[in-house]
Order: sequence, then structure tokens, then C-alpha cells
Amino acid sequence: MEVVIVPDATAGGELIAEAMAALVRRKPDALLGVATGSTPLPIYEALAAKVAAGAVDASRARICQLDEYVGLPAGHPESYRSVVLREVVEPLGLNESSFMGPDGSAEDVQAACVAYDKALAEAGGVDLQLLGIGTDGHIGFNEPCSSLASRTRIKTLTEQTRVDNARFFDGDIEQVPHHVITQGIGTILEARHLVLLATGEGKADAVAATVEGPVASVVPASALQLHPHATVVVDEAAASKLKLADYFRHTYANKPEWQGL
Ligand code: F6R
Repeated sequence: MEVVIVPDATAGGELIAEAMAALVRRKPDALLGVATGSTPLPIYEALAAKVAAGAVDASRARICQLDEYVGLPAGHPESYRSVVLREVVEPLGLNESSFMGPDGSAEDVQAACVAYDKALAEAGGVDLQLLGIGTDGHIGFNEPCSSLASRTRIKTLTEQTRVDNARFFDGDIEQVPHHVITQGIGTILEARHLVLLATGEGKADAVAATVEGPVASVVPASALQLHPHATVVVDEAAASKLKLADYFRHTYANKPEWQGL
């Protein structure tokens, strides 16, 4: 696992956006897996700025979703489909046909989950998967004690996650769905490169458990330790509980072959 400590969220966003731009320059039709929530917004802003400045041509890039609420009406502004269209697809100048996600309003949710895993595989697999992390250590919506081998499926959100996400629903937890479709941990681990961004002190415990704790389903993000190419980018606040922070700083500063990530 590569751990990169950056001064703040903007620097993290810029670093990851540059890694995504470099990937798209190498592979113009790369399949980019995106996360939602607050954390990745600086990445999307930085990437859109690169596209607008002509620093990268992302017109053939493909976007796929990590997870989705179950039961929100189609077009709900906080459905992750709407969020990804608004925050990623439109700012990059892509159209909806370059974007895939699980169908949270499907009558047969289980079939929609299986279909999504199949669609990801048929698309050639995810080249780079962005991840955030929950305060409870979740990735995607794989809540604590999710199987490390899990596939895309329906999950129940913990109370903590519903509290954390109430800010997107006028602060009203009653409006936060109980159920979601999420790529499983096994599905996520199939992406060629995993990039997790965590910012703010509220993520410090989860980051320390992910990076320095044992691989354990109670901390789903710790599964990144099993991946051959996982990068964890953290700001100083999110890094504040890492015992090895100085070692990570030293390693990153002394790896001249690293270009961006
Ligand atoms: C969202 C997702 C979640 C979030 C996590 C952190 O697609 O998969 O795992 O990344 O809940 O959310 P923020 O960034 O809002 O703190």
C-alpha cells in the first residue's frame, strides 16, 4: 500500500486528478470508477479544470459508479446517479452513454446487482477506482463485517452512516435510505488501481485502522492491504493517528521514480 500525506484536500485532489489524467493519456477509454460524498469533490474539480484547459482529452473516458441508494425516486438529486452526472459526467463534458451504475430503483434488486458486476467485467474491468472512507471504515457501502470476498449486492446502512449522510438530505436522517447497492469488496479489489482519499480529523481513526491495523472485515477498507496497487492519499488531519506518518513522508519524498502517484 502506498500512503501519501498531502497538506490538505486541495493538494490531494490535484495529485489524484493528475494520476487520472495520466491514465487517460495512456488509455483514452479508461474505465474510471468514481465515489460520491464530499471527499472526492476536489478531485473532480481539478480533473474538470485539466479538461477545460486542454491538458487532457477525456472525451473517450468511461465512468462507473461505486454504489447507489435503493428506493430513491428516479432523478432524485441525491441519488448517486444524479450526483455523478452532476459532479463528474457533465463537468468532464461526457454524455450519459459513457456512464454506468447499478439500478437502485430496479424491481429485482438482486438481479440488478448481478447485472452490474457482469457489466463491469464485460466493460473490461475498472482501471482506477476512487474510494472514500466512512468514519466506520466502510468503502463503497460495505459496512463493518462485510465479507472481504463480497460481490455487488444490497446492504443495510449502519446508523452511523445514515447520521453522517443526513447532511445531504436537509439534515434529516429520516430521509436517508436504509438500503443501498454497493460494489462488494471482492468487486472493488478487481480494479487495477485503487485510490482512496481521506481528509479531515474525523477520518483519522478509520485511516489508522485501515493502514496500520490487521486486515479484518470489521474495518472493510483494510482489504486494500490485499491489493497489489492501492494508494491511500490523506491530508495531515486524516494522517494524525498514523504511527508511521514520518516513514510514509520519507518514503514518498525519496521515491524519485514516482510520477504523481
Ligand atoms: C460513496 C461511498 C462512501 C463514501 C464515504 C465517505 O460513494 O462509497 O464510501 O466515500 O461514506 O463519504 P464522505 O466523503 O462524504 O465523507
